[in-house]
Amino acid sequence: MSQYFSQQVPICMGTFPLKGNELATAIKHAFEAGYRGFDTAQMYENEATLGSALAEIGCPRESLFLTTKVLPAHLGKDKFMVSVEESLRALKTDYVDVLLLHWPTPSGGNREALELLQQAANKGYAKWIGVSNYTIEMLEEACATLDDMPVCNQVEFHPYLDQSKLFAAATRLGIALSAYCPLAKGRIFGDPVINALAAKYDRSEAQIILRWIVQKGVSANPMSTKPENLSANLEAVNFNLSAPDSASIDRLGKKGLRIVDKDRMPIAPEWD
Ligand SMILES: NC(=O)c1ccc[n+]([C@@H]2O[C@H](COP(=O)([O-])OP(=O)(O)OC[C@H]3O[C@@H](n4cnc5c(N)ncnc54)[C@H](OP(=O)(O)O)[C@@H]3O)[C@@H](O)[C@H]2O)c1
Repeated sequence: MSQYFSQQVPICMGTFPLKGNELATAIKHAFEAGYRGFDTAQMYENEATLGSALAEIGCPRESLFLTTKVLPAHLGKDKFMVSVEESLRALKTDYVDVLLLHWPTPSGGNREALELLQQAANKGYAKWIGVSNYTIEMLEEACATLDDMPVCNQVEFHPYLDQSKLFAAATRLGIALSAYCPLAKGRIFGDPVINALAAKYDRSEAQIILRWIVQKGVSANPMSTKPENLSANLEAVNFNLSAPDSASIDRLGKKGLRIVDKDRMPIAPEWD
């Protein structure tokens, strides 16, 4: 587990909803900018394009940090392992760095999916395993069920959503959080607090937001198609926010904005 914390990539490239040439071009730009971490999922239907784009670049596998996620419809024993094997084939690799259960089991009860996730790790299909969109209670069940510790819980995480309870519980359990929609799909841009901090630190609003995330020890998966934004987002590892400035961003969480809500994803959990 401690190894995961030292080897995880603080800023990975999010790949949803990119596909085809748009994704392949963005991957090329991202790689040139310095990205080595890429976040995909069976649900995104883009693993094969990502795999081909990375093969064309020709980067040694051990320099990459690949995350994929098992589709909710594949969480039963008839589909799980076959789907993971298909993901590996599509990604042109023998293993992913992190294999996540993308969502809690839609029919309820996560035990079977967790056991299958452990079996996938035992087969060497994943260096680390984890979950996504899990609540505190679900994380506790995952810790009790898995032989290996779940290393991460990928969840919606940005300044307009207070995830402090989940973050504290995950930290207590030794599980890292990984942020999706870290920029809230742009819906935080223009916020007066973020805007003032961008001026104060001479950084973009996106960099202030990403810095606030990674400074907490949460990895971030921003998506961008633009070379200048891809590069700028990586730069968020290169400066520090003061504790009071970071706390002023924490206070924005009371706005309670959810990007991935029940309208978009009916199985989205109520966050703690
Ligand atoms: N586990 C899950 O259930 C789950 C759910 C949703 C998403 N995800 C993952 O999280 C990733 C990110 O989430 P997301 O794509 O929904 O939201 P996001 O990263 O918060 O926002 C993406 C948007 O921000 C813009 N952007 C990126 N960098 C920028 C910058 N420096 N300045 C200005 N605009 C910038 C992008 O436009 P440009 O292309 O114009 O830069 C894009 O429109 C996804 O790609 C996916 O990998 C996981």
